[in-house]
Amino acid sequence: MQLTGLQMEAPKKFKDESWDFRYEFTKYSNHGYHTYPAMMIPQVARRLIRMYGGDKTIILDPFMGSGTALLEAKLHKNFTKAYGIDINPLALLIANVKTTPINPVTLKVEYAKLISRCDTDKKMVNFKEKEIQKPDFSNIDFWFKPQVITDLAIIKENINRIEDLNVKNFFLVAFSETVRNVSNTRNREFKLYRMSPDKLKTHNPNTLEEFKDRALKNMSSMADFFKEQNPNCDVKILAEDTRNLTSLPANSVDLIITSPPYGDSGTTVAYGQFSRLGLQWLDYDRDTVLNIDRVSLGGVPTKTLENELGSPTLKETLHRIALQDSKRARDVLSFYVDFDKCVQELHRVTKKGAFLCFVVGNRTVKGVQIPTDEIILELFQAKNHYKHHNTFIRNIPNKRMPKLNSPTNISGNHAVTMNEEWIVIIEKE
Ligand SMILES: C[S@@+](CC[C@H](N)C(=O)[O-])C[C@H]1O[C@@H](n2cnc3c(N)ncnc32)[C@H](O)[C@@H]1O
Repeated sequence: MQLTGLQMEAPKKFKDESWDFRYEFTKYSNHGYHTYPAMMIPQVARRLIRMYGGDKTIILDPFMGSGTALLEAKLHKNFTKAYGIDINPLALLIANVKTTPINPVTLKVEYAKLISRCDTDKKMVNFKEKEIQKPDFSNIDFWFKPQVITDLAIIKENINRIEDLNVKNFFLVAFSETVRNVSNTRNREFKLYRMSPDKLKTHNPNTLEEFKDRALKNMSSMADFFKEQNPNCDVKILAEDTRNLTSLPANSVDLIITSPPYGDSGTTVAYGQFSRLGLQWLDYDRDTVLNIDRVSLGGVPTKTLENELGSPTLKETLHRIALQDSKRARDVLSFYVDFDKCVQELHRVTKKGAFLCFVVGNRTVKGVQIPTDEIILELFQAKNHYKHHNTFIRNIPNKRMPKLNSPTNISGNHAVTMNEEWIVIIEKE
């Protein structure tokens, strides 16, 4: 029997280029404060809020990163509470600063004091009238030139003299972005690679000017944000792990917008490596800094391929990968085992009728594309009632994602990985 047009269900999963936002400016409001791996573009978060969050008041991003979804929530009138969770201290700092309104007049006064102190200290250090304490982390001389180290140390010492914690954190974010820009790392990469020797010879950044430039840009954004933000939306940033029982009350959240990690922190999107230099300059202890990728979802491979996860698609995909390389298959599985723990926690904290929106990449391992969009859906539906609303497939024109990786882990053997992402929307019934 053939279905008539009326009887046929509209396709739920389809490519929709209107989600690409190809030529749009993605750094408006406080979105441009600091680079972060695999950032969501604000237009995606904004559209999801408009489509699914019109009548919602409590929003959560359980893998908040630099806080794109939280900032968008703070710019909307309907939310009273916005929660963000992450295990990376750099993400916590950036998201906190991006969503905390500070009076622009206060910032102007503090900025003038800060720069004047830095200028004075720089002169004194040059004339050897003052010694500046430099941080002592391994390889600092490999990643920074001597003058850069001195200038960064001067800026940091003076930021640390600021008493107001919000203002201090505000300038620390500009400082952390400056650290990246003046370091000897190759530009625009998440992983830590040093510049070529030729490039290094001519690399003589003016650290103080870089910092001023970043701080002034952020101050100008803050002035707009200060006027536009919703003062009734209370943002709570939680240094927790979404796999575990979080401090969020049960049945409290009515909208989730998030982009989980891709499960490949070891190969493509290395949050730990990306954050390392900034966090070392910010005095985070060595173990915390070096362990970020290990405590990330999928950071520890499973011992076997046995699993109780309720996703037939995952099972099939693992089987295809394991035929070529069982260790890689276990790496992949470990991510979904961890993700399934998050599914339980997200199920606990959401209300009935909540919308959950996941922006995911379907990465390729050993030539096998992993349909994370379908696996996520199956994991939610395995134990509880969730309705699939839509999956929109968008191109990634703007997002800072490496387009190439080495799925075989053989250097030089590159394949296109993620040019698209999948926006999966489900409703808790
Ligand atoms: C794709 S990024 C999110 C980017 C974010 N949407 C943005 O616009 O910046 C994924 C984030 O998940 C975080 N993450 C990884 N494992 C986690 C866990 N177990 N609990 C909470 N967050 C975790 C990572 O530290 C990373 O910041």
